[in-house]
Amino acid sequence: MVKVAASLLTADASRLEWEVRRFCDAGIDLLHIDIMDGVFVPNKAGSPEWVADIKRYATVPLDVHLMIEKPKNLIPSFIEAGADRLTVHCEIKDNVQECLSKIKDLGVKTGLSLNPKTTADKILPFRDMMDVALVMTVEPGFGGQPFMKEVLPKISEIKNMFSGYSTDIEVDGGINDQTAPLCIKAGANVLVSGNYLFRSPDLKKALSALRGQK
Ligand code: DX5
Ligand code: ZN
Repeated sequence: MVKVAASLLTADASRLEWEVRRFCDAGIDLLHIDIMDGVFVPNKAGSPEWVADIKRYATVPLDVHLMIEKPKNLIPSFIEAGADRLTVHCEIKDNVQECLSKIKDLGVKTGLSLNPKTTADKILPFRDMMDVALVMTVEPGFGGQPFMKEVLPKISEIKNMFSGYSTDIEVDGGINDQTAPLCIKAGANVLVSGNYLFRSPDLKKALSALRGQK
């Protein structure tokens, strides 16, 4: 069963309750929250307070994506704020194993992400510690970028790497009704989508289209 996570990067903060409830009422599976430090990526977004605000209205788990160069010391604040899944990148300056252990010890699902140019073998050493493999299908930093088709073989490679595991294979960046089927075919079971969902006039229809339902 394919799950869809709505990326709230472009959500209107002045009507956050309405935005969150709209997605939850339409049957979204997860809410994806992008946190950017302006160092790991050339953009700043999000905070533990932003996560806590979303948590007040959400009826589905919060999938928090940390695009932060040194996330380790910030992990507890995002979990206290209400993250249910917390993902760090494998390209960070902190020790990845220590970050994943910290997330696990604090009782939430662990995710590890890799940028489009990072090869699949970089996440292999952490396979036993990961609940989520988050494969970036755009260079992280901004919503609304075109999907990078060249990442598709890596999704299949990662799917094979996790055969026999219950790890989610999640894709993030440029996911719409055209690119979702390619990702599902390659082995993804969680689709993060921002601009496509925000621009869709009928959210329920858009969710069905992403899930491959008519
Ligand atoms: C990109 C973020 C994504 C992004 C997805 O750095 O991690 O979650 O907001 O948005 P779309 O679907 O518009 O590419
Ligand atoms: Zn993201």
